[in-house]
Amino acid sequence: MMSKFDYELSVYIAKDDISKRLKEIAIELSERFYNECPVIIGVLNGSFIFMSDLIRELDLECEIDFMKVSSYFGEKTTGKIQLEKDLNINIKDRSVIIIEDIIDSGLTIDFIRKHILGFSPKEVTIVTLLSKKMNYRLNFDIDIIGFEITSEFVVGYGLDLDQKFRQLDSLYKIEPRNLA
Ligand code: IMP
Ligand code: MG
Repeated sequence: MMSKFDYELSVYIAKDDISKRLKEIAIELSERFYNECPVIIGVLNGSFIFMSDLIRELDLECEIDFMKVSSYFGEKTTGKIQLEKDLNINIKDRSVIIIEDIIDSGLTIDFIRKHILGFSPKEVTIVTLLSKKMNYRLNFDIDIIGFEITSEFVVGYGLDLDQKFRQLDSLYKIEPRNLA
C-alpha cells in the first residue's frame, strides 16, 4: 500500500487564494439569488469542503441537499456513472445550484444535470471549483468556475486520490515519488 510519503505534493492553489475566490463567488450567488431561496446541491464526496466553505459566505436564504454518484477509481475514469444517493428535497419549480469540485471529462456533470432536469426545476446553475476545460466538450454552459486548470491531477480541499488527501486545506499537484 502506498502512503503519502510515496507521493510528491506541491502547492498548486494556496488556501488564501481559494478563500479569496470563494468570497467572489459567494457575492455573485448572493446577488443573483437575493430574492429567492435556491436549493444548493453538493455533489459528494469531492465538493464537501468547497460547499461548506462557500455556503457560509452566502448572504442568502437557501436549502441544502446532496447527491452522490460514482465513476472514478484512482486516476482513471471508468466512463460509467452510477447514482448512489439521490436528492431528498423536491426541486420542482425551484432554482437549483449544483456545486461540483472539478469538471474533467464532463461525464459526471452531464449525468447530474440531466438527472436534476428530470425533476423540472425552475432553473439550474452550475458552480465548480475547478475546470479542466481542455478535457471536456459540453452542450451547456458551466455558469461559475473557481479556477481554470490544466490536465494535471490535483488533490486537497476535498479532492482525493483513492480517498486520500481530501483534508488538505490547499490544492496540491501530486506525483509519485521516484523511489529508485
Ligand atoms: P469527470 O466525470 O471526468 O468530469 O470527472 C469528475 C470527477 O473526477 C470529479 O468529481 C473528481 O472526483 C474526479 N477528478 C477529476 N480530475 C481530478 C483531479 O485532478 N483530482 C481529483 N479528482 C479528480
Ligand atoms: Mg473523486
